[in-house]
Amino acid sequence: MDPLISSARCRILAADAEGVAKAAEAIREGLLVGLPTETVYGLAARGDDERAAARIFAAKGRPESNPLILHVADMASARSCFTDQWDAMTQRRFERAGKLWPGPLTLVGPKHERIPAIVTAGQDTVAVRIPDHRVAQMVLSLAGVPVAAPSANVSNYVSPTTAAHVVEGLGDHVDWVIDGGPCSVGIESTIMTLGDDHTSPMILRAGGLDVATLEKQLGEVVSVVQKSIETGKTPVTPGQFAKHYSPRKPLRIVDPRSIKRPPFGDHESSEVFAGAARWLRIRCLPSPVIPEGYDAVWTIASSGKLSEVAAGLYAVLRRADAGPFDAIDIESVDETGLGVAIMDRLRRAAHQSR
Ligand code: TXA
Ligand code: MG
Repeated sequence: MDPLISSARCRILAADAEGVAKAAEAIREGLLVGLPTETVYGLAARGDDERAAARIFAAKGRPESNPLILHVADMASARSCFTDQWDAMTQRRFERAGKLWPGPLTLVGPKHERIPAIVTAGQDTVAVRIPDHRVAQMVLSLAGVPVAAPSANVSNYVSPTTAAHVVEGLGDHVDWVIDGGPCSVGIESTIMTLGDDHTSPMILRAGGLDVATLEKQLGEVVSVVQKSIETGKTPVTPGQFAKHYSPRKPLRIVDPRSIKRPPFGDHESSEVFAGAARWLRIRCLPSPVIPEGYDAVWTIASSGKLSEVAAGLYAVLRRADAGPFDAIDIESVDETGLGVAIMDRLRRAAHQSR
């Protein structure tokens, strides 16, 4: 057995009927479970139990000011997380957007009073999603309670897309991890507020579901909240801090057309980069040209598809972090479709290392 896995406190469960039953029972008992979803692995606990939810914040080192997403198995359970009294417009948007469930979409609306304050960080809104993953679906159905789950990584580090990633980061804090294989989408859900009669829906976090699909489904324009990265303004989504999704190694975004390793820009001339001797270049998409000035060149998506970039991104960032490199150059992608969410994550990954 992998020494890493055997040294950790947590135990790995197979994604079979027994594993699913054990995971659901553990959640019902108030324990922490690493749960596969189509986006990233979640660190799951009962969302209707303050003590269980509090364990999530402690395990991740997450500030209690950052609310959690509730995961449920079906529309009726999702509806019951929100207030009974909302207007016809909110209900209509909920029903329409809900047609995209199960999927990488999280809806934010006024919360039901039964949702504990710790889950919503004291806010009067709650975030809810139905994940599109066979194992998550079965665990959620069996658990029969809303399940709070942030990404199962130590706060601010790269999110996990395999069970082994969860064990690496949180193995000493989680009771069980259910191994549902690598996540198919690979980046977190798109978060959208439902708005109401007077306010339009708004994307708070770009993610695995693109804006065009949402707009088509809702039949109206959905605005995207301005990125908080450079402004320093209080973000609408508390988790949208610049420092996020970051590998430990210094990382910068480069133009895929650059053949030579680019010189440092003004904002990159920090000592971290200046001292770097061994460089890794990560191409998101394939290219026949071999860039110069690197010790290694990796390509994430040999298919040339953005969905493959998203699915492979976090695993590659973790591998790069563990490899013999001092600094990482990663190539940008066009900001269309999934490219919006990919570039959002790359900017956050790059920001911290400056
Ligand atoms: O794909 C995903 O969404 C994954 C999987 C596990 O479902 N979960 C995930 O959770 O990414 P987390 O905690 O890493 O990110 C959730 C984001 C945070 O930025 C948080 O601030 C925001 O959702 N959020 C939660 N409740 C909110 C609310 N009531 N209003 C606005 N933002 C909220
Ligand atoms: Mg996260």
